[in-house]
Amino acid sequence: MGTVVDQAKKSEVNGKSLAEKNVTVVFVLGGPGSGKGTQCTNIVETFGFTHLSAGDLLRAEIKSGSENGTMIQNMIKEGKIVPSEVTIKLLQKAMLEDANNKFLIDGFPRNEENRAAFELVTGISPAFVLFFDCPEAEMERRLLGRNQGREDDNIDTIRKRFKVFLESSLPVIEYYDSLGKVRKINAAKPVDEVFEDVKSVFTTI
Ligand code: C5P
Ligand code: MG
Repeated sequence: MGTVVDQAKKSEVNGKSLAEKNVTVVFVLGGPGSGKGTQCTNIVETFGFTHLSAGDLLRAEIKSGSENGTMIQNMIKEGKIVPSEVTIKLLQKAMLEDANNKFLIDGFPRNEENRAAFELVTGISPAFVLFFDCPEAEMERRLLGRNQGREDDNIDTIRKRFKVFLESSLPVIEYYDSLGKVRKINAAKPVDEVFEDVKSVFTTI
């Protein structure tokens, strides 16, 4: 019984709900190829967070043969945003199953629906939002050069992903900016230099 939101709120692992776990969440946002994943790996090593990439969780869900797999695969191929309830369930489960209580959530929320649904379902507001700001030409160069075997790293899908980022994801960053929660990083620089800037954000929490 109940709505999707009611069900998600009740979701528990080993009798524990997310509300009982006092979690700190940092959203890591930026266009495709802005270096979110790379920098998250560095942040995990230095600051002891657990890295949860929404895109990686969705790709794992496809591989697991889940009933949503085909739908997710088609959305990713088109650079579209998967319905929030699917992604939020994966994030909730991952947070509950991990003993850590500090999470970097990378690539989420991607649109206003993602943002509002996550806050409603989990009751979690981010401590802050790390925003990797990078020119499109540089992101395109990185995506085309990275060779991770991803079905969405081709020029047609990349263009669609850029459009979705501008139209749907930037407004989320603007929303958090209006709350004073955005920490903007110049992500066009080399990885090590970007991490220096990232470190100063995390050491002044
Ligand atoms: O963040 P990443 O580049 O790995 O995301 C790849 C794709 O996964 C996105 O283009 C989108 O199709 C899907 N995705 C989504 N919702 C999210 C994050 C990723 O639908 N919150
Ligand atoms: Mg990524």
